[in-house]
Amino acid sequence: MPELNRSLGFWGAAGIGIGAIIGTGIFVLIGVAAGIAGPAVILSFIIAGSVALLTGLSTAELSSFIHEAGGSYIYTARAFGAFPGFVVGWMKSFDYIVGASAVSVGFAAYFFYFIGVPPTAERLIIVATLWPLILMLLNLRGVREASGANNLLVALKILALLIFIIVCLSALLISGDYSNYQPFFPRGFSGVMSGAAIIFFAFIGFNTIAVMAEEIKDPAKTVPRAILFAFAVCTLIYIGVSIVAVGVVNWELLGSSSAPLEFALKTATDNIFVLQFVAISALFATTSVIMASIMGGSRALFAMARQGVLPKFLSRVSRQSIPFFTVWLCGIIISGIVFFTGGNLEWLASLFNFGTLLTFFFTNLSLIRLRKTMPEVKRGFKVPLYPYTPVVALISCVILALYLNTNAVITAGIFLGVGVMVYYLNKKRSLSEKTP
Ligand code: ALA
Repeated sequence: MPELNRSLGFWGAAGIGIGAIIGTGIFVLIGVAAGIAGPAVILSFIIAGSVALLTGLSTAELSSFIHEAGGSYIYTARAFGAFPGFVVGWMKSFDYIVGASAVSVGFAAYFFYFIGVPPTAERLIIVATLWPLILMLLNLRGVREASGANNLLVALKILALLIFIIVCLSALLISGDYSNYQPFFPRGFSGVMSGAAIIFFAFIGFNTIAVMAEEIKDPAKTVPRAILFAFAVCTLIYIGVSIVAVGVVNWELLGSSSAPLEFALKTATDNIFVLQFVAISALFATTSVIMASIMGGSRALFAMARQGVLPKFLSRVSRQSIPFFTVWLCGIIISGIVFFTGGNLEWLASLFNFGTLLTFFFTNLSLIRLRKTMPEVKRGFKVPLYPYTPVVALISCVILALYLNTNAVITAGIFLGVGVMVYYLNKKRSLSEKTP
């Protein structure tokens, strides 16, 4: 069986998690969510973060005793067998790919903002299509190189968001004007929930650490710790950003901007250095999410090919131990989706969120099943308040999915149907190869 090298420590793993989490969600989709929920988008963040955290805990436990590459795909395959595992792995790979396409659109929006050129639709599509291809080439060089570049990007984007919080908070305190928080619930409870269903996107990414488990040293301890650490850092920063963003600028104006953090920051400062630093950090942030998505997506496909549920050639690795076929595949499909969908961000995000909620649902179900079928295996981390935590996690995934865009859900369903066909065709082909 082809194997991957264990080359990542705690910071490398946590960096990949934070790299995958902080991106287009906080830099771009915060505007869309604020336009839906109003100032109560702060609550949308808390709700979406709680739903993600509940499954984060389950992922931390599962990853503390299952260290194969593949994350939720492997957990579901262990708990329920090859076909349910395939469904989850397929949706997970789809998610990485669709998510990275959405993030590439966010990258392009800030890119033109940064260079001061008006972002026409054609220009946006060209940049958003080319960038994932360039990052795909970097991913081919090796996970250590990719992770080194990733950690630098992570440090810069955390710094930028902290600067954003400090500058906007100071402006709010100095002006003493809190009128933007009124009315707090302009769209009621359903606005808050629809905002949560969209901004859920911003929290996803910690699962990439579990997907990469096979390349992490001492995974039983490192993976759960890195997941919880990455999650805690991002959630605290997000809540801070949302509180100040809807305070310095009216929620409707924030909702109409394609670079909302930049828009909010401009009302708080005219310091060009600060403004440009945050814009360039948005570029770093989105770049690291795309890098992490190519890493995660390629490993999810690799894991399925290695198990024989996708064509075997996809599990081939290069001399540097990189699953190069799946890296190529991810890069090319990400670009293709941007190109052919014209980069509709809200729609791509809803599609991504549905796929993620589905895989989260199975992750929690797998945790419950494996507690029964593998009770003797030592776990480096255990979900507190079992079984309530994973059961509440399951229910919260279903509730959030109800608030998603119906068209996106239907498209994800069609993709799932294609996956089922691929599964059976591949199964038929392997059986006919075995029969002389
Ligand atoms: N959480 C990632 C982002 O916000 C997908 O870009």
